[in-house]
Amino acid sequence: MTVERKVVVAGAGLMGTGIAHAFAAAGYSTALVDLNAEALSRSQASIGTILDDGVRLGKVDADAAVAAKGRLSISTDLAEGARGAALLVETVSEQLAVKQAVITAAEAVLAPNAVVATNTSALSVTEIATASKDPSRVIGMHFFNPVHKMKLVEIVRGLATSDETVAQTRDYSDSIGKTSILVNEAPGLTTSRMSAMLGNEAMYMLMEGTATAEDIDTAHRLGFNHPLGPLELGDATGWDTRLAVLRYLHQTLGEKFRPCPLIIKMVAAGRHGRKTGAGVYEYRDGQKVPNSGLKGGVL
Ligand SMILES: NC(=O)c1ccc[n+]([C@@H]2O[C@H](COP(=O)([O-])OP(=O)(O)OC[C@H]3O[C@@H](n4cnc5c(N)ncnc54)[C@H](O)[C@@H]3O)[C@@H](O)[C@H]2O)c1
Repeated sequence: MTVERKVVVAGAGLMGTGIAHAFAAAGYSTALVDLNAEALSRSQASIGTILDDGVRLGKVDADAAVAAKGRLSISTDLAEGARGAALLVETVSEQLAVKQAVITAAEAVLAPNAVVATNTSALSVTEIATASKDPSRVIGMHFFNPVHKMKLVEIVRGLATSDETVAQTRDYSDSIGKTSILVNEAPGLTTSRMSAMLGNEAMYMLMEGTATAEDIDTAHRLGFNHPLGPLELGDATGWDTRLAVLRYLHQTLGEKFRPCPLIIKMVAAGRHGRKTGAGVYEYRDGQKVPNSGLKGGVL
């Protein structure tokens, strides 16, 4: 299958930056659009840094880095960026109405039969697709942060997504060096659901006094070869975000996802994780304070 060469990425935040880098580095003419001009400049600078770091580390050819920078354009005008693109990856804020408005506006100028992909973490692809004039072209393309290091793309098939759209999206994913898996739309997909379950269970163990936080995390790092333990990961993700996901999964998938009371207590106390300076662990100048983990039986 021939893959068309122009891609538009809508949303120049954390994820849009990584996604635009991936497409530009893989040879696509990549338009990055955002309402916020500062976000666009920041994003373009970050993409430059990722490429320059790649050259410094000997992972990216210097000429290839220059070419990738040249393939990236930025714009605050969605119609300008999306014109003629064969793929839209929408990665704007996680709000249904905002995502739907971007899709409707972009579709007026995309190439005929363009694939419309959403990087939503939790919203329904089927529901997002109701804004499209052709829901069979709408699909989830769920990337992971940081995009330039994480190999996985979870491709999410909504109720109306066609086989052809799935095949084209897998081609796009392959062409930027990612490994894709296919998920039929379901709450928490495959990744957020597992990660929420693991983090919740680890918090129950901590609350019950089974082991200290350090020992629970060490067990997962050394026993399962996970790069981060479930409590460290929760601190990185943010327990407020984790709690919102657990509440949604509890509502949709039932009792096994009931949020651990210790998470509710930590969030109420403002211990959201790394971003607030304390979660299960404490952080000073962005670094984890050794032996600062909550001890067992803290409820
Ligand atoms: N952060 C993660 O780890 C992660 C991982 C996977 C998926 N996601 C999903 O990716 C999406 C973006 O997340 P993020 O963390 O990059 O958010 P972010 O807040 O960093 O960036 C969102 C960007 O969208 C822009 N935006 C908002 N409305 C817009 C519009 N109408 N047109 C153009 N741009 C608009 C904002 O100005 C902002 O720059 C969300 O749907 C999120 O759930 C996030």
